[in-house]
Amino acid sequence: MSYPYQIKSIEQYHEDYKKSIEDPEGFWSKIAENFQWRKKWDTVLNWNFTEPKVEWFAGAKLNITENCIDRHLPSMANKPAIIWEPNNPEERTRTVTYARLHKRVCQFAQVLKNNGVKKGDRVCIYMGMVPELAYAVLGCARIGAIHSVIFGGFSAQSIADRLDDASVEYIITCDGAFRGGKDIPLKSIIDDALIGNKTVKRVIVYTRTRIPVSMIKGRDVWWEDEMLHAEDQLEHNGVIDFPAEIMDAEDPLFISYTSGRTGKPKGVVHSSAGYMLWTNYTFVNVFQYKPGDVFFCTADIGWITGHSYIVYGPLSAGGTSLMFEGIPTWPDAGRFWDIIDKYKVNILYTAPTAIRSLMSYGLDPLKGKDLSSLRVLGTVGEPINEEAWHWYDEHIGKKKCPIVDTWWQTETGGILISNLAGITPAKPGWATLPMPGVQPVLVDEQGAPSISPEGEALTKGNLCISLPWPGMLRTTWGDHERCRTNYFATYENLYFTGDGALKNEEGFYRITGRVDDVLNVSGHRIGTAEVENAINMHAGVVESAVVGYPHDVKGQGIYAYVIMSQKHGDDEQSKKDILQTVTRVIGAIAKPDKIQFVTGLPKTRSGKIMRRILRKIAEGEMQNLGDTTTLLDPGVVEEIKKGKL
Ligand code: WT7
Repeated sequence: MSYPYQIKSIEQYHEDYKKSIEDPEGFWSKIAENFQWRKKWDTVLNWNFTEPKVEWFAGAKLNITENCIDRHLPSMANKPAIIWEPNNPEERTRTVTYARLHKRVCQFAQVLKNNGVKKGDRVCIYMGMVPELAYAVLGCARIGAIHSVIFGGFSAQSIADRLDDASVEYIITCDGAFRGGKDIPLKSIIDDALIGNKTVKRVIVYTRTRIPVSMIKGRDVWWEDEMLHAEDQLEHNGVIDFPAEIMDAEDPLFISYTSGRTGKPKGVVHSSAGYMLWTNYTFVNVFQYKPGDVFFCTADIGWITGHSYIVYGPLSAGGTSLMFEGIPTWPDAGRFWDIIDKYKVNILYTAPTAIRSLMSYGLDPLKGKDLSSLRVLGTVGEPINEEAWHWYDEHIGKKKCPIVDTWWQTETGGILISNLAGITPAKPGWATLPMPGVQPVLVDEQGAPSISPEGEALTKGNLCISLPWPGMLRTTWGDHERCRTNYFATYENLYFTGDGALKNEEGFYRITGRVDDVLNVSGHRIGTAEVENAINMHAGVVESAVVGYPHDVKGQGIYAYVIMSQKHGDDEQSKKDILQTVTRVIGAIAKPDKIQFVTGLPKTRSGKIMRRILRKIAEGEMQNLGDTTTLLDPGVVEEIKKGKL
């Protein structure tokens, strides 16, 4: 594989950037020539941000799995596509070549077909990090079914909501998943999610942990049996193939649920062709991937990072993607370094929260680990603090590896702002420059372009994007209006990211964090309204308000102020009950780190909670609470300050 569109110098970056903005259609159609199409496009780009409507390569036909697998077979059949490291380091590892991946994906596509799955159907995938998860994702894409992967940390209730939202008819799961010292009973959680469900017809279960599961007759089938049967059906003179469904460029590829300002997570929908181009282009350029490199993205495929940079980006580039089932601290905090040593990893892509957590174990876990294969390091998910950046640079990269700070979102499909490893400069804490095709704009609250104050080099504002890029979301599942109001209605003709940012005189961007009521806990997006809804479901709770506060490892922690009813105690037991409720309603990832019982919340005369005050108190800022003159009852604030945890 060669990547003629790989940027090789800073001059080329500036040239390509300029071309991409002046002539997006010319720029992206030239890059698109490097992919495999069943039919070329009629138009490159149709768009307006008012509806919004965004179409890239309309009229073109393709299947993303032919681009991720088939086209590599002639030259790379025996090259590793996926290297799998199990949770338990003593268990046998697996290397999946492109030939093997082709076979398994074809087989699984046949399994889906045998079970009634058709193009356009929604398939929910709730599995641990096993290679079969990649086969399931790609098997869906091969027959044109829309996958919706749900992270293993979400509760049955969260799954049920997502099944409902997308009228899911098929589920692929595992009996259980190994994560560190824990076995997570995935199938049993699915069974709970299915109580009362009316749409799901079939559940395909892959055996991983061998914990007992209840298999319901007529609904549940075993992955292994289905695969054997499919193999028999497909085998022709020793060759297995399943013809890929021919998809329109704009056909939805998958849905990924993510939290926003309102209570209910929304299903972000990504396209086939544009998403493919974007993940491939950003993968090749940001990480400066070279054929043969071993790329290790530590995310879970339940999140978009795993979709884009474990599956679609690396595989579309004919790369080798390392997939890890476990967690960074088990059996000990040296696990990542063992893996890098064992597989001679060249590129490591992880989250600031993981770096901070590993930092806290000191340097012992690094002793005797050979990290010399590393060439590039990356981070994603939240702003990286300088201390973590320097630790990563010194102790992992040994000051020889460029660090790419990649800013993007579930909605953007892939990286939008980042330095390019070794090509454009890095600056600790700064995501730096936009990718070609990305036109960031900073605006003030009213939507006017931000201007830097006289004599100051920095501009500050809300981060928007003014041009469509191929990988952007197309809609939110089942509710296009929601997509419009969430992202395109705040500022006219702009996509609003929800993040605040700074821009310096070099044109570098520094992301300062969310400006809406969305938290970023360990790189996971959680809406405050969502957590409040969950807390309020607990019987004793009258009202609650949730804010974020700085947390050493997680980046942000969740701070909940809760009013209990008179007959319920505000004791430790109630706190535990509330935590249990949140775990049930959303999942353990949304559990508040601190719960403070209060008798009232600071409100304006019109009844609006003054979150700014609550945020300041949670941050430990007791003095400058800002304007409190509109407060209905200033006494409440004093009480809250006294009770701060
Ligand atoms: C939010 C998106 C994109 C995959 C992981 C998270 C924050 C993400 C960075 C970064 C500063 C970052 C933003 C963004 N974020 N990357 N490099 N520097 N902040 O995806 O759950 O959709 O969250 O994560 O606040 O809006 P997500």
